[in-house]
Amino acid sequence: MLCYSIIMFRFQWEEKYSVGVKDIDENNKHFLMLINDLHLSMIQGKGKIKSSKIIQSLIEYADTTFSFEERYMSSVGMQDIKVHKEDHTYFIETMKVFLAKADNPRLGLPMDIMRFLKSWIEGHLLVEDKKYLITK
Ligand SMILES: [Fe+2]
Repeated sequence: MLCYSIIMFRFQWEEKYSVGVKDIDENNKHFLMLINDLHLSMIQGKGKIKSSKIIQSLIEYADTTFSFEERYMSSVGMQDIKVHKEDHTYFIETMKVFLAKADNPRLGLPMDIMRFLKSWIEGHLLVEDKKYLITK
């Protein structure tokens, strides 16, 4: 039953993910698509190369989107930018750890990554990033 729910899991874009900034929303749509692709490739056992490329794409997404977010937050005078930047750094460092592990897959790694990304969406995207809406 657990495997079934893992296999059927898929993120869909919803308005609740919007931070009200078009460019960031577009990047976050891409982010959700990458998570879905990563999840699918891992559970299908499509090999470490594909998983590694998707994790690299997640890092590229993070580099681009987080830089944009941080400039945007500064421009609207958002508080706690330092803490927010630390969150972003933590995401990228965690992805790099996962990337290293993807070269030597082990049982449970897909769930470790999905658990992290799900908690990122719930704790950062839906909470911390939403502070744009409050600030602007
Ligand atoms: Fe953020």
